[in-house]
Amino acid sequence: MATNFDILGRENVDDLEAILAVANTDVDAVLHTIKAEADVLFTWDYERSRPALGKLYEKAKTSQWNAETDLDWSIEVDEAEVARMNQVNIPGGGLSGKDMTGTPFEKWKEDDWLQLGIEMQNWTLSQFLHGEQGALICTAQIVETVPWVDAKYYAATQVVDEARHVEVFAKYLNTKLSGHYQINAHLRLLLDDIIADNRWDMTYLGMQIMVEGLALAAFGFMHQMTTEPLLKKLLRYVMSDEARHVAFGVLSLQEFYKELNSQEIRERQEFAFEAAVRMRDRFLQQEVFERMGLDPAEVLPIVLQDETRPVFQGMLFSKIVPNCKKLGLLDAGDGWLRDRFTDLGVIQFEDWADTGAEYEMLDEVSKDREEQNA
Ligand SMILES: [Fe+2]
Ligand SMILES: [Fe+2]
Repeated sequence: MATNFDILGRENVDDLEAILAVANTDVDAVLHTIKAEADVLFTWDYERSRPALGKLYEKAKTSQWNAETDLDWSIEVDEAEVARMNQVNIPGGGLSGKDMTGTPFEKWKEDDWLQLGIEMQNWTLSQFLHGEQGALICTAQIVETVPWVDAKYYAATQVVDEARHVEVFAKYLNTKLSGHYQINAHLRLLLDDIIADNRWDMTYLGMQIMVEGLALAAFGFMHQMTTEPLLKKLLRYVMSDEARHVAFGVLSLQEFYKELNSQEIRERQEFAFEAAVRMRDRFLQQEVFERMGLDPAEVLPIVLQDETRPVFQGMLFSKIVPNCKKLGLLDAGDGWLRDRFTDLGVIQFEDWADTGAEYEMLDEVSKDREEQNA
């Protein structure tokens, strides 16, 4: 077994009780410690033998941006208005027009639904923030553990990118929204697992392919929906970095997986599946309902009836599935991962654009600069 949690031992992958049993118990802790076991590698081979990574590194150097000066933080944000705009498309938000007789939502007025939307927004941006810190730590780890000099160079640029992402989400939450949430327990377990694994390529698979692939889709979704100009530009810029990050994962693992045997590939398939389940489980947003004074076990079965939910949730896998396919993980070993992704209802994305080269198209920072110079 590739990892130390037993999602695969869960009787039913949708077992709500088992999902909710995973909760964050140390919500007031300021520090969280993980024992990392990976070897730290020097390489004396300074030969630049991986041109695709070299190209990505050059791109990263010219597409840097400054969160303080490239975004207009003087823009005033009406968070209720932003929540209102997003609400129809946020899981749970589509329920507000339904008949809620006999449920804990029975007496809810428009204001309560709006407050739910505001909390969901605080929660979502908070999880983006924590995920970004996970990326910051993982890419610093990749600098240490990856054996290839081109990858160390590139990963170093990503460390700076991720610091900037932590910076912008923290500032947006602090100055434009109304409250932080602690990291969701499912997300934390996933990050712990990625960081603790002693195989350097698992950091890539967990972070660059799974967490970042989902982030790229989630940012894209929010970017499309929101008309709040500060958030919109912030997401455009973050996404143009993230597209490079996912490409870094695809390019590196494509090469490395060629050397692995079928048992080793199966371990990667299991790791990818478990990561997918963890990420899906966090979208129940159990902490939001608790903050609203509701019992998640009571209200989630109602929330899950929202028929917009599977569509939204599925979309979050629209980058992960094609990238797993490109890496050969979908169909290796009799299609083990293909079957699991079919069960999760996300296999339909397998032929969507993978992210090996998409970063060139998504370079919004360069586009803006060219426009300014013209
Ligand atoms: Fe990031
Ligand atoms: Fe990233």
